[in-house]
Amino acid sequence: MSDTVRFRVHRGLSRSEGEEGFQDFEVPLVRGMSVMDGLDYIYDHLDGSLAYYDHAACNQGICQRCLIQINGATGLMCQTLVTGDLTLEPLSTQPVERDLVTKWGRKSDG
Ligand code: FES
Repeated sequence: MSDTVRFRVHRGLSRSEGEEGFQDFEVPLVRGMSVMDGLDYIYDHLDGSLAYYDHAACNQGICQRCLIQINGATGLMCQTLVTGDLTLEPLSTQPVERDLVTKWGRKSDG
């Protein structure tokens, strides 16, 4: 098993304006780490400009604020354990604020 995993993370502002892409980060794999823990590592050690909902929310699978697309499926960052390389994207049903943050309460215009 590798000592690190690759987090491929959506970066950018807007799908419609083409100001988006992906950035890869190598994150040390720790047994029991969640996707949120990995993003915390990136924010603290690799790139403090990364935007995502962090532990200011519940971190217990209740509030649903950390819903994103994890390897193409909808999942909670705080409850999904990391077992291998990941691709992380914002919810496709919401307008993107920046990176993994979406504008809650508004449906996408298309
Ligand atoms: S932080 Fe509340 S469900 Fe993940």
